Amino acid sequence: MKTIVAILTACLISTTVQAQKKLTVVTNQPVAEISPTMWGIFFEDINFGADGGLYAEMVKNRSFQFELPMTGWKEIKKDGNGKILIQNTGGNRNTRYAQLTVNAPAGRYGLTNEGFRGMGFHKGETYRFAIVAKKASGNAKLRVEAVNSAGAKIGEATIDQLPAEWNTATVSFTTTDSAMKGRLNVWFEGTGSVEVTRVSLFPAKTWKNRPNGMRPDLVQLLADMKPGFLRFPGGCIVEGRDLTNRYQWKETVGPVDDRKTIVNRWNMEFRHKPTPDYYQSFGLGFFEYFQLSEDIGAEPLPILNCGMACQFNSGEVVAMNEMDPYVQDALDLIEFANAPVTTKWGKLRADMGHPAPFNLKYIGIGNEQWDEQYIERYKLFHAVLKQKHPEIKIISSVGPSPEGKLFDYAWKELRALNTDIVDEHYYASPDWFLKNASRYDNYDRKGPKIFAGEYAAQSKAIASAENRNNWQCALSEAAFMTGLERNADVITMASYAPLFAHVDAWQWTPDLIWFDNLRSYGTPNYYVQKLFALNRGTHLLSVLSEGAVLNGKDSLYASAVLDKKGKVVIIKVVNAAASAATVALDLKGAKMAKGEAQIETLAASDKQAVNSLDSPTAIAPSKQIIRSKDKTIAIAPMSLNVITIPIQ
Ligand code: AHR
Repeated sequence: MKTIVAILTACLISTTVQAQKKLTVVTNQPVAEISPTMWGIFFEDINFGADGGLYAEMVKNRSFQFELPMTGWKEIKKDGNGKILIQNTGGNRNTRYAQLTVNAPAGRYGLTNEGFRGMGFHKGETYRFAIVAKKASGNAKLRVEAVNSAGAKIGEATIDQLPAEWNTATVSFTTTDSAMKGRLNVWFEGTGSVEVTRVSLFPAKTWKNRPNGMRPDLVQLLADMKPGFLRFPGGCIVEGRDLTNRYQWKETVGPVDDRKTIVNRWNMEFRHKPTPDYYQSFGLGFFEYFQLSEDIGAEPLPILNCGMACQFNSGEVVAMNEMDPYVQDALDLIEFANAPVTTKWGKLRADMGHPAPFNLKYIGIGNEQWDEQYIERYKLFHAVLKQKHPEIKIISSVGPSPEGKLFDYAWKELRALNTDIVDEHYYASPDWFLKNASRYDNYDRKGPKIFAGEYAAQSKAIASAENRNNWQCALSEAAFMTGLERNADVITMASYAPLFAHVDAWQWTPDLIWFDNLRSYGTPNYYVQKLFALNRGTHLLSVLSEGAVLNGKDSLYASAVLDKKGKVVIIKVVNAAASAATVALDLKGAKMAKGEAQIETLAASDKQAVNSLDSPTAIAPSKQIIRSKDKTIAIAPMSLNVITIPIQ
């Protein structure tokens, strides 16, 4: 096939040009297939990511199950009186209810809920209220009110007949105004005794309008990334600070009211950001995560506890001879996801509304564990899963650090076991990310594949409250990701972490997507992820400059893929320098087809620049058609560029 030199220019920049590079892309000898799971999403319930975030429930502590049962609630009175007593029926799950004695023949008495740092109401939208209650005596009626932060009413509905036996009563209302930090007032009018075990409020508009649904704006941001996989539920939340608050998937499926509320392990993790009101209702549980994966076209990737609590906290382990239930959890999860409806767990999946299997292909054993205690526990899972489910690929951990003694030890053991995919994590400086763009260039091609399972450049230091999602960090991640892509024969999965953060309730920064109660935005890091994911391609191509890979020379980084279906060559070029550069593309083995070549650029002139709720797309990609006349493509200073060229 003829070699052609693609002569193209984007004429983007008039800044002084420094680096000039000829990039030779070998289009007719793909190096490897790119895994469809290459770029994915890491979800964890941190920073109010689930309750108060993705999960659209607006009532905090809806079943009075937080350690302090009135957290989020306050008594309210208007020309009436009464008292509240928290009753506990004993037993194992969600056993509390509030008994309200109402004495308001000509007024009102009740409770108000503050939501998750307030409740966000959109003007003109419908909200669905539900109460699980019993009118024990008297004639009390119910009036619900949405109010704004000043206490002004913006929505209202009444229920005249409360159920005489435990039951759910529902009513909807439409708001007359918006409120960012609204509240929900639950008033009783009349006299008598009412018992309440759950109060719930959802917007009618959830993702796919599902009851018990998710915030549509947040899911849309995920769907827009077209992620290859969705890792859930974390993260250290899988491990728990101790084993009592580890994540147990079986506690998160079945009827929502039966899912036992527990403390969120991030609740008091950081002294600089205590969030004592952070619990897990599990309204968003494993069924919902599988469903979400399916909705957004991502492979589900559940991570299970491996009999170890977080080694940064208690580090508790389950005795080796007590591990059976943990291994059984993994087997049962595969049954829940994939088995026919005639099986116990397959039936539960069907009862929850999804008779078809979820086609689970991956399972993670342990989150970020290390040392011998992990390897010996991991081996138990490995042996059983490989024997009973050879079709499932297992993700194993090499700890929190991408190098060092523990990392090397875990790798040695996992390589000997011939594990499928090893999960490496990197939270490091932007400089580390730039330097590590070549990290995988010399990795063992015969060993396990790599999952870059958690990474994010830290502008200050790991877990510092001053970390920012600034352009410098995002750009360094882009440079690093060209290294991941260039090594797509060994890297089969990668995800930025963490995913979500509520602007008023976060514990960890930086995060990919930020939101308040009404709005959300993608950070520059989000747009980097999205550009890579939307331009994944199907086959890896070699791209060389002066005979070598371009992984930092003159602050330039490059990788290339072929999209066989779309018949395009896609070249990613990162310029980490503050000066412009040019590249001349030499496409070996391909003829340019008719159609438009284009360059999509993500750039900012200020390293500290960020997106925000008020300027959500201050840094966002912009596209330009490339003219096929001139010799070079201009590469803006501090930019990520995705160059797409149609080929015959
Ligand atoms: O992403 C935040 C935390 O970082 C994760 O929970 C954990 O796996 C890692 O230490």
